[in-house]
Amino acid sequence: MRVTLMVNGERREADGVWEGESLLHLLREHLGLPGSKNACEQGECGSCTVYLDGVTCCACLVAAGQAQDAEVVTVEGLAGDDGLHEVQQAFLDAGAVQCGFCTPGLVVAAHDLLSRSPDPADDEVREALAGNLCRCTGYVTILDAVRLAARRTATSSRDPA
Ligand code: FES
Ligand code: FES
Repeated sequence: MRVTLMVNGERREADGVWEGESLLHLLREHLGLPGSKNACEQGECGSCTVYLDGVTCCACLVAAGQAQDAEVVTVEGLAGDDGLHEVQQAFLDAGAVQCGFCTPGLVVAAHDLLSRSPDPADDEVREALAGNLCRCTGYVTILDAVRLAARRTATSSRDPA
């Protein structure tokens, strides 16, 4: 089947999508967007987190056909013409990236949190990121990254959303 959708602000079309295919597979294998990672394919790890019509979801749990005419934003879509988004840059600067498999999902989840709650308490951050598993960092640097992004966003004139 053919699936047509908006991805990162562009209209995209994919042919030859099979009925059981996930949105994650569509993004990675048909549309050339490998940022969203496939770590479990069971909705357990959050590494495939994307926005679907403005709401974060695990792309591995969404059928590609369900994304017909939808608006999807992936980790690639968060960067602007002037470079990485504050959240992306904060993950790098805080040393929150080791193997990097969890990073795209965490970046999208943190972006979503900060767009709703620009100065979250640590408990709020932990709760918002609870669905995103990291096997490497121990989460300390990830919390640091979210705090850093929040501080930078607060002092920046750029809209975090
Ligand atoms: S790959 Fe989707 S939740 Fe793990
Ligand atoms: S950096 Fe390796 S899983 Fe998080």
